[in-house]
Amino acid sequence: MSLKKVLVTGGAGFIGSHTAVELVNAGYEPVIVDNFSNSFPFVLDNLSQIVGRSLTFYEADCNDKEAMGRIFAKEQFYGVIHFAAYKAVGESVQKPLAYYHNNVGSLVVLLELMAEHKVKHLVFSSSCTVYGEPEKLPVDENAPVQKANSPYGNTKQICEEVIQDTVASGQELKAIALRYFNPIGAHETSLIGELPIGVPNNLVPFITQTAAGIRKELTVFGDDYDTRDGSCVRDYIHVVDLAKAHVRAIAYASEQSETSLYDTFNLGTGDGSTVLELVHAFEKATGEKLNYVVGPRRSGDVEKVYADVTKSSEVLGWKTEISVEDALRDAWNWQLKVKDQVFEPTK
Ligand code: NAD
Ligand code: WQD
Repeated sequence: MSLKKVLVTGGAGFIGSHTAVELVNAGYEPVIVDNFSNSFPFVLDNLSQIVGRSLTFYEADCNDKEAMGRIFAKEQFYGVIHFAAYKAVGESVQKPLAYYHNNVGSLVVLLELMAEHKVKHLVFSSSCTVYGEPEKLPVDENAPVQKANSPYGNTKQICEEVIQDTVASGQELKAIALRYFNPIGAHETSLIGELPIGVPNNLVPFITQTAAGIRKELTVFGDDYDTRDGSCVRDYIHVVDLAKAHVRAIAYASEQSETSLYDTFNLGTGDGSTVLELVHAFEKATGEKLNYVVGPRRSGDVEKVYADVTKSSEVLGWKTEISVEDALRDAWNWQLKVKDQVFEPTK
């Protein structure tokens, strides 16, 4: 019997590459499409090393309907996991149209092609950013979506609505939006991991680059929040745990008897860590001393957000297995592997 083919858009990226591995582990055939706007071709070689064979790959832009149409016609997908997007919050404020075009436009192209080629299963990368500063913690999937504080965040909200409207229109589509909390870590082989371009915006790559001596010091953005130690609280989840949830989501969608459905699930650990706790956990997990200072708050930061994972656990049958310490150790091993390389844009 031939394996079910799953299109993984953005499969050379951080979360997509780890998901490609987990798809193989679960007996699916990932087909990767990426345009390397935020990733590098060597990732594909490293993926082959992890899974022991080469994976089907197309260099294409998900917004290019003709190119994507040819891929759909050739591959006959069982489902689509749509990771491809721009994700830099600050940049999205400077270049909103690039973000709307890439993030929303690519989804529309894919939904049209899914209708034309009768592809019925979709998993979409959404984000806890849709909750803004939640009124109730831990935040569950019924919490109201708050007005986005960046064009990037708005693209996630719009994409969720585009999918809901498509399902409501009667298109035969079982779609799951996964709302990620803060993905960190890297594959245990240190062959794939996060590749921030230039100066990292996210905390953990900034920590590992500081420990590696690439950055002078980490600035903790604010210690006057209403939290245990005054620094912000987030729910940090290992990227491999996150990747496994995508495999579970594809299976879950196909198990449901309805022909059309839309659902959302939180993907987090259920526990919050402060920035300072994460810094100390990194030091403990790796034995490295981290040079950090406390600075002013970063504008737009949410004070605290962490997931209620009851629905993911009870309905999806998924929960995290890897500790934050192990995630930080994996992130550090990955940093040692890429050494002092600072990645610059290819396009
Ligand atoms: P990433 O940048 O590492 O991966 C995205 C990949 O998509 C890259 O390889 C990039 O080259 C590719 N890509 C972008 N636009 C494309 C296009 N038009 N056509 C083809 N390829 C394209 O990002 P990631 O961290 O792996 O994030 C994956 C998804 O998860 C994104 O949708 C992101 O918004 C979402 N997300 C990420 C986080 C996070 O903190 N990493 C949190 C919540 C949600
Ligand atoms: C985590 C914490 C910072 C860097 C962003 C996006 C969100 C989602 C995930 C995609 C915060 C603090 C950080 C530093 C610091 N992405 N920090 N010094 O802000 O939770 O969310 O990524 O959907 O949309 O906004 O993640 O890693 O940037 O920050 O003190 O140098 O670390 O203030 O409290 P964030 P982050």
